[in-house]
Amino acid sequence: MATRLAVFASGTGSNFEAIADACQSGRLDAEVVLMVCDKPTAAVVGKAASRGIDSFVFSPKDYPSKEEFEREIISRLAASEVDLVCLAGYMRIIGDVLLNEWGGRIINIHPALLPSFKGAHAIEDAWNYGVKVFGVTVHYVTAEVDGGRIIAQGALSYEDGTIEDLTQRIHEIEHLLYPEAIERTIKELQTK
Ligand code: GRF
Repeated sequence: MATRLAVFASGTGSNFEAIADACQSGRLDAEVVLMVCDKPTAAVVGKAASRGIDSFVFSPKDYPSKEEFEREIISRLAASEVDLVCLAGYMRIIGDVLLNEWGGRIINIHPALLPSFKGAHAIEDAWNYGVKVFGVTVHYVTAEVDGGRIIAQGALSYEDGTIEDLTQRIHEIEHLLYPEAIERTIKELQTK
């Protein structure tokens, strides 16, 4: 049976689309059954709607605390019978409430070769550092930000271009790597 995915995003949603496309084409034996977004104005909201994918879009400020909106997310995940959560540009640290319930079943994509360049500005930080090999990491989410076990990585040698072009190339790697890493994760969870 196809694995039921929830994708969490806060922005453009190009990884959300890559995952949904991989599911739709049958390349990935999974289905995106829920999109969770903490920014009502984000482009990903329209992308989910146009694909007919259910979404839970919320504003954190409408909740008294992070614990409260994470509880709401947990009940939405249960209602949609989600098996695996994929963070794809979700710009919020996952808190204890969600981790206690979903730990081991949440993965994230990060635009750098972890453990280098953790944090929200990874591409810019790596560029400013002057590295010559860039990349992407898919990893399990734990309490340590960008610190969970690595599932897959993709690398790219890059010199003498622009940060805009580099960013574009990193996104291209992400869109190929994330569906592959999800497939690997599904297999791993099935053998547990
Ligand atoms: C990606 O670069 C991802 O690695 C990072 O956030 C970005 C999201 O881009 N975590 P998009 O919204 O999927 O286009």
